Amino acid sequence: MLNRRTFVQSAVKTATIAATTRLNPLIAQSSSQPPSKSPNEAIQLALIGAGIQGQGDTRTALQVPGVKLVAVADCYDGRLAHCKELWGSDLFTTRDYREILARKDVDAVLIATPDHWHKQAAVDAMKAGKDVYLEKPMIHVYPDGPEIIDAARSTNRILQVGSQRVSSIVYAKAKELLASGAIGKLNMVSAYWDRNSSLGAWNYSVPLDASPETCDWPRFLGTAPKVSFSGERFFQWRKWKDYGSGVAGDLFVHLFSGTHFITGAKGPTRAMATGGLRFWNDGRDVYDVLLALFDYPDFNLSLRVNFVNGGAESEGFLFTGSEGLMEIAGNTVTVTRTPRETEPGYTVSTFTNDMQRQYIEQYRKKYPIVHPSGPLPQNVEKFAAPPGYSDSYDHFHNFFNAVRSRQPVVEDATFGFRAAGAALLSNLSVDRGSVVRWNPETMKLA
Ligand SMILES: NC(=O)c1ccc[n+]([C@@H]2O[C@H](COP(=O)([O-])OP(=O)(O)OC[C@H]3O[C@@H](n4cnc5c(N)ncnc54)[C@H](O)[C@@H]3O)[C@@H](O)[C@H]2O)c1
Repeated sequence: MLNRRTFVQSAVKTATIAATTRLNPLIAQSSSQPPSKSPNEAIQLALIGAGIQGQGDTRTALQVPGVKLVAVADCYDGRLAHCKELWGSDLFTTRDYREILARKDVDAVLIATPDHWHKQAAVDAMKAGKDVYLEKPMIHVYPDGPEIIDAARSTNRILQVGSQRVSSIVYAKAKELLASGAIGKLNMVSAYWDRNSSLGAWNYSVPLDASPETCDWPRFLGTAPKVSFSGERFFQWRKWKDYGSGVAGDLFVHLFSGTHFITGAKGPTRAMATGGLRFWNDGRDVYDVLLALFDYPDFNLSLRVNFVNGGAESEGFLFTGSEGLMEIAGNTVTVTRTPRETEPGYTVSTFTNDMQRQYIEQYRKKYPIVHPSGPLPQNVEKFAAPPGYSDSYDHFHNFFNAVRSRQPVVEDATFGFRAAGAALLSNLSVDRGSVVRWNPETMKLA
């Protein structure tokens, strides 16, 4: 039975645990896996891909006690210069991340490059002995998944994928509520991520000095098709499939990570998607509206992204169960349970008067009249994370704990592939114009 006091108390307790561990992040290391940091040494971090998310992630990572930034790699000189402005002129900076991987003073790397560099940078880093925080989506194309998983296994490195909500106390609460039967048996999950702005639709600013001199264009392209320099492609890469993975790789992947974490599911078996380029027709080759349906063994999932939703940015989840609904919105989770009716309803009135009388007599034996009459009251319970709560902080906190302890992380390479692999089924379904099948156990297209 849900009880407001225990619900809030539990929330406060979870938040307190998180806050306490923030103050005491240094936990004992396991002796079984080499090499790990002494609890008293700082973890020396390097950033690969110092753009919007890379700089934001680094700010958060450095709030975790015992973490020091020593080096940064990026392909745009202006961002390397700004990193020195932010973190000191003695910071080592380079256009070539291999120089960072060669450094003995780097323990872990934070990779926040465009998607088409994720696999190569992560595999190179693990082979160089570095632990890796890899931004989502873990993969750009399917073969990336097994390569990253194999590299993490063979090198015995910690790899955590950057869908930060997996470390959120709100998601932990939702997981706990679902497992406790708060909404009965789950039958459907719907989630969405809508936007209505130019920045939301990835039209990020291109700096005035963007040119082949200030931007290392060949290095940015990597294995992508060789095309001549374009400031838009460099700074707004999400708009092209050669570097990004559409709204599925950018946003569905968060919704999959959340769904898998909260339900414990490994992934869908079937997917079908549709969409269109409805507004941001600016040369991009990916959709700005995407709708997709997925079959899981025990429930169905529907996902939506709309970059022209006519309102404000919003995202959320609705978990539908046999006994209620659980909604995640912002940093809150709300369970609403509406009792089923105890009135026979209007269809009885089509029977003969005698049958109506008999029917209602029988019905009342099962459901006696309750006073006051009318629908039974809803049971609504709401959990809210404390003001200012940051799941990104907790995600980095978990990562650095694992770097020290060598204990596995929840959002490892397998988790990351199951989320990103599921998300990319949407693109495949759109391209093929058909249903696509996936084996979530083996993580292979069926
Ligand atoms: N977890 C989240 O909520 C979240 C939010 C935003 C972005 N992201 C992810 O972070 C990643 C980066 O996104 P962004 O918005 O910061 O992009 P961005 O374009 O702002 O930054 C990417 C940076 O990578 C650099 N780069 C490109 N190729 C490189 C290479 N070979 N070596 C080193 N640097 C290279 C670019 O010069 C650029 O500065 C993406 O994978 C994105 O999906 C995650």
